[in-house]
Amino acid sequence: MVVVNTIAEFMQARKKLNGSVGFVPTMGALHKGHLSLINKAKEENEFVIVSIFVNPTQFLEGEDLDKYPRKEEADREICRLAGVDILFMPTADQMYSKDELMLGAPQIRGYILEGEKRPGHFDGMLQIVMKLLNLTHPQKAYFGKKDAQQLILITQMVKDYFMPCEIIPCEIVRDNDGLALSSRNVYLSSDDRQKALSLSRSLQKATQFVISGEKNAEKITDAMSEILSAVDKIEYIAILSRTFEPLDEIILQNSIILVAAWVGKTRLIDNVWI
Ligand code: PAJ
Repeated sequence: MVVVNTIAEFMQARKKLNGSVGFVPTMGALHKGHLSLINKAKEENEFVIVSIFVNPTQFLEGEDLDKYPRKEEADREICRLAGVDILFMPTADQMYSKDELMLGAPQIRGYILEGEKRPGHFDGMLQIVMKLLNLTHPQKAYFGKKDAQQLILITQMVKDYFMPCEIIPCEIVRDNDGLALSSRNVYLSSDDRQKALSLSRSLQKATQFVISGEKNAEKITDAMSEILSAVDKIEYIAILSRTFEPLDEIILQNSIILVAAWVGKTRLIDNVWI
């Protein structure tokens, strides 16, 4: 595995990859969720590139940019053992210049749910993903359904900007107790963690409703809010189509049920694709 920190070194290493490339962008503190993306990329491509970059432009004022978990040594080892070919870990000055051309998230899909609670987050996220895809020019890039809105916006960006890359959605990886893996789970105390389980439990309940034939969005979200009363603050519960239009009724194979909530000082998101 080649580990590079500058664009020049990266370009040198990239030139040597003669075959199909799968790309997994991350912000590090790698866990089994990230690893599942890397493994899928390994299966489907001759070469795999992973990036680790805690992207400052997608963090809002007052968010956890400075204390975002950083585990460089462990991350390297995980990538090496997983058979990654290039690990790209740039610094912010490599990725950004002054007075940058800015990318904007779409006005509706980019400004509801996460985009409403974290205005500007998706502008910065799309900006860095655009840069990384242009640098790595992979055949396929892998993103988790855990960040459903992110995945949908990236898929739209690649389509709208005619980018020659296939976006591959990957299943959510969970701990045994159901909690969706996240680099931010390290912030949870054991009490918090118990409360946090109500996110996945509320989604399990929603899934059971759908299986038993209940399609009404309001009834499903009501049942979810009861379970979610354990958290400190619910930010949203939403039922949307897979292109992010609000739904009154579940449409099978075309719905996502999403939840965001605060547990202590930690903001968590989770969802299920129906
Ligand atoms: P990060 O939070 O590190 O996540 C990197 C990728 O791992 C994303 O595609 C995310 O959806 C996926 N992922 C995280 N937890 C997962 C889980 N439990 N199961 C499956 N996949 C999971 O998302 C970002 O970084 C950044 O916004 C990035 C795209 C790198 C741009 O800066």
